[in-house]
Amino acid sequence: MSIIEPFISDLDESQQEIVRLAREFAQKEIAPYAADWDREKRYPEAVMRQLAELGFFGMRVPEAFGGLGLDTLTYLLVLEELATADAATSITLSVHNSLPVSMLTAHGSDAQKQRWLPAMAKGEVLAAFSLSEAGAGSDAAAVRALAVRDGDQWVLSGEKAWVTNGDRANLLVMLLRTDSPESRLGHRGMTMFLVPSDTPGVVSGKPEDKMGLRSSGTTTVALHDVRLSGEHVLGKEGEGFRYALQALDLGRMGVAAQAIGIARASLEHAVRYGAERQQFGKPIKDFQAIRFKLADMVSRISASRALLSETARAVENGMRVTERASMAKLFATESAMWVTNQAVQVYGGYGYMRDYPVERLFRDAKVTEIYEGTSEVQRIVIARGLYPK
Ligand code: CAA
Repeated sequence: MSIIEPFISDLDESQQEIVRLAREFAQKEIAPYAADWDREKRYPEAVMRQLAELGFFGMRVPEAFGGLGLDTLTYLLVLEELATADAATSITLSVHNSLPVSMLTAHGSDAQKQRWLPAMAKGEVLAAFSLSEAGAGSDAAAVRALAVRDGDQWVLSGEKAWVTNGDRANLLVMLLRTDSPESRLGHRGMTMFLVPSDTPGVVSGKPEDKMGLRSSGTTTVALHDVRLSGEHVLGKEGEGFRYALQALDLGRMGVAAQAIGIARASLEHAVRYGAERQQFGKPIKDFQAIRFKLADMVSRISASRALLSETARAVENGMRVTERASMAKLFATESAMWVTNQAVQVYGGYGYMRDYPVERLFRDAKVTEIYEGTSEVQRIVIARGLYPK
């Protein structure tokens, strides 16, 4: 086994099998096409259907609702394998599973779970999580989009931003203000809603033109007096902000796994290229300048994975892992940016060209330091943990 890959021999047979299945599928059906999807900004519809057949849309859906019910570590290792082939495919499934599936499982009524989870497990329903707005990025509690009661209905208005899967999600799990302008309740004035995207008045904008993850659709979602019944409130009124931050613990771990996959792919390319590329009469891997870079790259990837695995074990032991999840995301994503930058450097001039894979990996790595909480937000969360109230 290569020292670049995760050590999985201590997992049980079924866990190992699913990680291997993800690796084989990712390398055979995804990796060879990812550059084309990126260039053409094309969502890989057929591959997503195959991933649904393999059960990967239901990785975190409990078995009782038709999902795989994977433990945290196996789930993250699958996301890493997918990201090694294509970071955009990985985030589509990470957002769907870590955020909407988790929130429905934790806070949904029986009827809501029955309605959504089996279809989400089969991939018939793709879900998005919608929190951010133009004026509410890092300051998530500054949400302005509203839900106002009208008899036994709610009327939703406002505009959400940067919604991953926003162009094709069937279900939007959305955080909205439910307090009134006369009595603002801060983060306790927000409620989570289950918004089917085909409800009249829900309008997705055109996909953003992004630096990376170009085959995954990121859009605005506007709400024009959208009418929903009370059955669409998820959990308790006023608890939405807490539900969001709670789910983001796993979301951030998913992004860490994605970053590890991106970094690993760039290292694998750099190692191969180092052995092929000849300069000054020998392969560049024989120069210490290159060897030391590669050694640092693999060490940072392994350290990221070790931190993430420890956090996953803590989740399985029922611990709240907020600060650990932030540490894992911070370290893995900043490492991914560093590692992909080194990979471009190993490739030299070729690394700067779109024809070579490390250029895309470098672009894809950047967003991992931004979404699901910037590196700066992760540092706020971690530092708060050092001075608990
Ligand atoms: N689990 C459970 N509860 C939690 C929690 C967690 N992990 N974190 C916080 N809470 C609770 C707190 O205990 C508090 O509860 P009380 O009301 O009982 O006191 C409440 O939630 C509010 O928490 P804070 O006081 O910490 O809230 P804050 O306003 O100070 O948060 C912040 C500040 C940490 C910067 C937060 O706003 C934040 O994380 N911002 C970043 C937002 C973000 O990550 N956005 C990502 C968008 S989603 C996305 O990118 C997905 C995608 O499509 C890829």
